[in-house]
Amino acid sequence: MKKPSVTSFLITLLLSAAVCAHGTTESNGNPVKVGEKYFMQPVKTEHNNGGGLVPAATNILPSCPLGITQTRLPYQQGIPVTFRYTETIDRDFITTNTSINIEFRSDIWPVCNEFSKLWAVDDSSSAKESAIIIGGKHKSPNSAFKIQNVTVEEHTYKLTTSYGTVGTTPGAWLSAPQLLVTNDESKTLVVKFVKADDANKATTSATSRVEKLGLRMFPFY
Ligand SMILES: *[C@@H]1O[C@H](CO)[C@@H](O)[C@H](O)[C@H]1NC(C)=O
Ligand SMILES: *[C@@H]1O[C@H](CO)[C@@H](O)[C@H](O)[C@H]1NC(C)=O
Repeated sequence: MKKPSVTSFLITLLLSAAVCAHGTTESNGNPVKVGEKYFMQPVKTEHNNGGGLVPAATNILPSCPLGITQTRLPYQQGIPVTFRYTETIDRDFITTNTSINIEFRSDIWPVCNEFSKLWAVDDSSSAKESAIIIGGKHKSPNSAFKIQNVTVEEHTYKLTTSYGTVGTTPGAWLSAPQLLVTNDESKTLVVKFVKADDANKATTSATSRVEKLGLRMFPFY
């Protein structure tokens, strides 16, 4: 009867490993998977209309790299993102408190194509609260984000970086909320992850429809 005990020992080991690595969940409670597309959606509150995240210039004068803005249109899902670990980690799901890259995924991208679509902190700026920009590098410290638990509601999270927590401030475009890093908790951006394929189930060509809608938000598109 040696085998069962080895097996149960292994199962115990596996279970304890699973308990240490806390999975991030999408809006339906399923694990957030590496490389799959999700809409990162700000949680709707009294002060937040719940509109999605889109690329936008950080100044009124169009310039690259782009920043990230929350659309002022509720029900607009924005442009989907994918996640991957910055280090080699052999898991197909994303855990909290672990360094990841965040990348916008869209086939249509009319401007600033010389930049990557990875999110990064603009560490070239001397501003106290640096903008989140698009144009990061896989291994750069300014392109590493972590998903952290919050207790706002089920399946909601915030993003942190070594520069501070991701929050929003009224930005250049009609004061639409623009993403930046901040240590001011009142500005913290609380998000949930909505699987892009589920969101599009209704119509077959929905992906491109959603992306085109999202791209209308490009301020100079
Ligand atoms: C997150 O990870 C860091 C080390 O990477 C650790 O010091 C810290 O305690 C962790 N935080 C939580 C909430 O688990
Ligand atoms: C995040 O929340 C989950 C579920 O409530 C919990 O199991 C886990 O310990 C939390 N993780 C961290 C890093 O606080």
